[in-house]
Amino acid sequence: MKIERILVTGRLHSELEQRLRAVIGAELRCMPEQDVSEQDLAWADAYAGFRPVPGFRSEQYRWVHALGAGVDAFIHRRSWHPATVLTRTTGDFGRQIAEYCLGYMLADAQRHDAFRHRQATREWGPQAAVPLAGQSAVVFGTGSIGQTVAGALRALGVKVWGVSLQGKRDPAFDGNSALEEATGILGQADWLINTLPLTEKTEAMFNAKLFHGLKDGCALINVGRGGSLVEKDLIAALDTGRIRMAVLDVVSEEPLPAESPLWSREEVKITPHIAALTGGREAALQLLDTCNALRRDQMKLPNRVQIERGY
Ligand code: GLV
Repeated sequence: MKIERILVTGRLHSELEQRLRAVIGAELRCMPEQDVSEQDLAWADAYAGFRPVPGFRSEQYRWVHALGAGVDAFIHRRSWHPATVLTRTTGDFGRQIAEYCLGYMLADAQRHDAFRHRQATREWGPQAAVPLAGQSAVVFGTGSIGQTVAGALRALGVKVWGVSLQGKRDPAFDGNSALEEATGILGQADWLINTLPLTEKTEAMFNAKLFHGLKDGCALINVGRGGSLVEKDLIAALDTGRIRMAVLDVVSEEPLPAESPLWSREEVKITPHIAALTGGREAALQLLDTCNALRRDQMKLPNRVQIERGY
């Protein structure tokens, strides 16, 4: 395929321009999302960005490259021109997300919040840690992110179950289940970790019905997409104690609106979608490799998105 004019948008635009200008063999226009004009959109035959900017139409491009791991902003509940190739960034996300999850799990196990409060009141109040070893986690999503999370948790003695569409056995986990058959294992989980992409199948998946199957006092970590979690059902589950803590790196509306009740809940830890960030170097390398492969008409790429599947 011919790729001659690439429009690059988003927070990495100047770094990508610097890294790619001399090597990509195409004209580049690199700019922040808010600076993109109709004319820029019409000029390009390829688009790279974290999300489509207003006025983006997939039929305009031969190739679109998502700078993040997730592609829901491009294709979830939007039409996609079938001839336009969509690729995404795969990289270091698993390790970053594993560290993020472990950070919150260890802080919880070691009772950081309680000791912080006691320090504020100058109170010497010993309390034992609750070791992660022997706890159990259910990780939704058994791709490279889910696998890396599982590896990190298993190294500390957590028993990790992987849930995926097919439920295929995968040695990265202690056991596997398909989504529909996950009910049995949910009742034993101390931790629910969502790493799934947002698709029609995973939208609103973490809802009252699923929470009903949990044991009391389960903790939830959402590093997938906010659209997979029904926030009012989470709040109800926090109220009853079914869920004792929720760590949310993603929410249904980002930035989380100031009036959201989630902000003020002590048991909810909110981070602004930072659990895994695309680095400039890896983004540039992958954009370049993908561009070169497509130019050689190599269409079977490991980072190519299957539009009908949604990721
Ligand atoms: C972050 O959520 C990404 O899609 O990379």
